[in-house]
Amino acid sequence: MNMNDYENKLKELGIAFIKAEHPDLRTPAEVQSYLGLTLADGLSTMIMKIDDRFIAVIRRDDCRLDFKKLKKELKCKSIRMANDEEFEKITGMPIGAARVYNPNLKTYLDNKLFEKEFLTGGTGSFICSFRYKTEDLKKIPVSEICDITEDFSKKEKIVFSGIQPSGNLHIGNYIGAVRQWAAGQDEGLNIFCVVDMHAITVSQDPKTLAQRTKEIAAILLAAGIDPQKSLLFVQSHNPDHANLGWVLNCYLSMGQMSRMTQYKEKSEGKESVSVGLFDYPALMAADILLYDTTEVPVGEDQKQHVELTRDVAERFNAKYGETFVLPEPVVPKVGGRVMSLVDPTKKMSKSDANPNGAIGLLEDPKIARKKIMSAVTDSGNEVKLDWKNKPGISNLLEIYSQISGEQYSGGNNYGEFKLAVADVVEKFLINFQQKYKEISESGKLESVLEIGAKRSYEISHRKLLEVYDKVGFVRL
Ligand code: TYM
Repeated sequence: MNMNDYENKLKELGIAFIKAEHPDLRTPAEVQSYLGLTLADGLSTMIMKIDDRFIAVIRRDDCRLDFKKLKKELKCKSIRMANDEEFEKITGMPIGAARVYNPNLKTYLDNKLFEKEFLTGGTGSFICSFRYKTEDLKKIPVSEICDITEDFSKKEKIVFSGIQPSGNLHIGNYIGAVRQWAAGQDEGLNIFCVVDMHAITVSQDPKTLAQRTKEIAAILLAAGIDPQKSLLFVQSHNPDHANLGWVLNCYLSMGQMSRMTQYKEKSEGKESVSVGLFDYPALMAADILLYDTTEVPVGEDQKQHVELTRDVAERFNAKYGETFVLPEPVVPKVGGRVMSLVDPTKKMSKSDANPNGAIGLLEDPKIARKKIMSAVTDSGNEVKLDWKNKPGISNLLEIYSQISGEQYSGGNNYGEFKLAVADVVEKFLINFQQKYKEISESGKLESVLEIGAKRSYEISHRKLLEVYDKVGFVRL
């Protein structure tokens, strides 16, 4: 349906609207800002797949969909946003240009739309929008009014986490972080990022960095991150991260930054340390705050950075009014700190000088086996969880339970116990690497990252513009 036909169809249906022309603008935030409107003056049509059919959902731009309410209302098992391909096929429009009327789709209208007399929304074109008389939207054929957005006081679950493409990813990263990411994807909005800009805070070989960035993205997919459910992208592909990072820099103090344990650890004994390494938590705060993140699933070592993120968000909110959501770090009760196999008082780390301390996810399973067999254990011969007196055995017990999903129930013989851990880890690595190989060879990685970057920007840019306005940056 071209623009003329669409306008005629709306008139025929009795839906009143006023046309507003503007330059080519791709996101609702840009359109609203150009037209001098606020988020609460805009509406968006979202195409969603519920079970095996598609529907359209219209909500006000300042309201968030509540997936639980939506599931209940639609009595469906699964629900997700249509991907770019599906969107274009169903609406005949480029992504981002949805109209309120979509023939052949049942349309659900959120109740809160009707609190406003007029709302501005998409037309299928990026160079004009329509200001609709909201009451008339009830005339959209095959539509239903329902209550599907969140109370303003309650925040939708938005998960953000990141991982650096430096060094080899190890089972500590998997147990402490990535596995949780995959497990939580069915609820809320989940965003995962390969943080290449963080990686260059220490010296990197360019070729290796590029290769590792792709490798880690493929590892995340192999670990169960599903691009149909979550966004996955590379940090340097979305410029908003560095831009907000700069702004936040100006609201963090040198004192706060120098208290960061990770900075102290990473800079210890080094003759020269980059400003980036010192400043890195500002960029990490930007990563998190751009998306109104409510939860940040991380290992124990990153908790302090998330707390700093809350601090800077609070400081900014206090000065400029409610802008950022305060995120919660979510550290797993078990496995939040997997320790080195050669020194169980230190965490397993990508940058450990001794390669026997960590087991890489892409490491030869036979070598991994040997590392477990020669892992440092403790005196005595009891196989029991006792972090104070038996850190080596406790670490192996946690690795065993987290990788196998079961508690170790064998006897007290250290040799037998290590064999059991080695078996579980070897089997896990063989399966994992098979999945990794399939994903790397599928050729789909680039398009997943491209979609992730585009979608993440659509969300983050709105927040960045809000921040720019608040701090007084002029818009042209
Ligand atoms: P990074 O890349 O060092 O580690 C990625 C994730 O793995 C967790 N982790 C561990 N968990 C358990 N045991 C271990 N031995 C272990 N080692 C690492 C980390 O806690 C982390 O969750 N600054 C972050 C990356 C980042 C980020 C973000 C995270 C950048 N922006 C925004 C969350 C939100 C880092 O260097 O993680």
